[in-house]
Amino acid sequence: MRLKDQAGWNQVNRDWQRLFDLQPDGCFVAEFDGRPVGTVVTCRFEQVAWVAMMLVDEAYRGQGIGRKLMTRAIEELDRHEIRSIRLDATPFGQPLYESLGFAPESTLIRFAGILSPVVENEAIPAWNQPGREHELLALDREVTGTDRGALIARLFAEHGESLRVVETDQGVKGFLMSRPGSNSRQIGPCIADETAGRRLLADAGRRYAGEPVVIDIPSSHDQAIEIVEALGLKPLRQLLRMGRGPRVIEDLSRLWASAGPEKG
Ligand SMILES: CC(C)(COP(=O)(O)OP(=O)(O)OC[C@H]1O[C@@H](n2cnc3c(N)ncnc32)[C@H](O)[C@@H]1OP(=O)(O)O)[C@@H](O)C(=O)NCCC(=O)NCCS
Repeated sequence: MRLKDQAGWNQVNRDWQRLFDLQPDGCFVAEFDGRPVGTVVTCRFEQVAWVAMMLVDEAYRGQGIGRKLMTRAIEELDRHEIRSIRLDATPFGQPLYESLGFAPESTLIRFAGILSPVVENEAIPAWNQPGREHELLALDREVTGTDRGALIARLFAEHGESLRVVETDQGVKGFLMSRPGSNSRQIGPCIADETAGRRLLADAGRRYAGEPVVIDIPSSHDQAIEIVEALGLKPLRQLLRMGRGPRVIEDLSRLWASAGPEKG
C-alpha cells in the first residue's frame, strides 16, 4: 500500500488481497537490505497471464530492480508454459517492457472526474439470478478471449451489489460492475453489446452521480467515450496494452470499460 500510494494509484487493501488470492504462488516482492522496495503480481488464466502492480519505491528506481522483478515474473510464467503475457502499461513501464519483448497492442484512456447527475434514463434493477453467473462469465470469455472466470466470480462475490445486467429473450447482452478505490470508484468491467453498453454506462452515471470515479476505456471506443464525456468525465492518462507471445484476440468494441489495469 505504501508503494501504490507513492505512485498515486487507486487500489485498496481488498484489491491487493484479491490479487494474492487469485495467484498465491505468483506474487513477488523485491527487498533491499531486508526492506520491501518493489512488487509485481502475475495471474494465470489457462494460456494467458496478466502482470500487474509493478511498483518500485521512488528512492530505489533506475537501479535495475524493476527489470529484476519483471524478469522473475516472466520466468515464473514461462515455467507454467503460459503462451501470452499481457499488461496495461504506464509510460514509466513501457520502455522496460519493450526491452523484455512486449509489443504494443492497443491503448486505453483513463477517464476521471465527478459524475454529473443524469435525469432522463431508466434505472436498471439489481440482478438477482443465483445460478446464472456462468452466463456473465461466458460473455466475458467471448469478448476478452480469456477465461477470466475466477476474476469475474471473485468481483461478483465481493461487489455483487454493484452488478447490473442487461438481457433479452436471447440471453445476457451485457453487464457492469464497480468497486470503491482509495481515491475514486473504479467503474468496470463493462462488457456489452452496443445497446446494452449504452444503458449500462448511463445507469452507472445515474447511480454514482456526485461521486469521484475512474473508468478505463479502449481509445477506439467512440460510443463509450462520448457517454462518459457527457457525464462530465475528462481524460486523465493513457495506458498502453502490451503483449508478449501470440496475440490474444479480444473484441474491443464490446469492452466498454476494462476491469482495471491489473487484469484488463
Ligand atoms: C516502472 C518502474 C517499476 C521501473 O522500475 P525501476 O526499478 O526504476 O526500473 P529499472 O531500474 O529496472 O529500469 C528498467 C528500464 O527502465 C528504463 N528506465 C529506468 N529508469 C529510467 C530513467 N530514470 N530514465 C529513463 N529510463 C529509465 C530503462 O529503460 C531501464 O532499462 P535498462 O535496464 O536498460 O537501464 C518504476 O518506475 C515505477 O514503480 N514507476 C511507477 C509505477 C508504474 O508506473 N509502474 C509501471 C506500471 S505498468
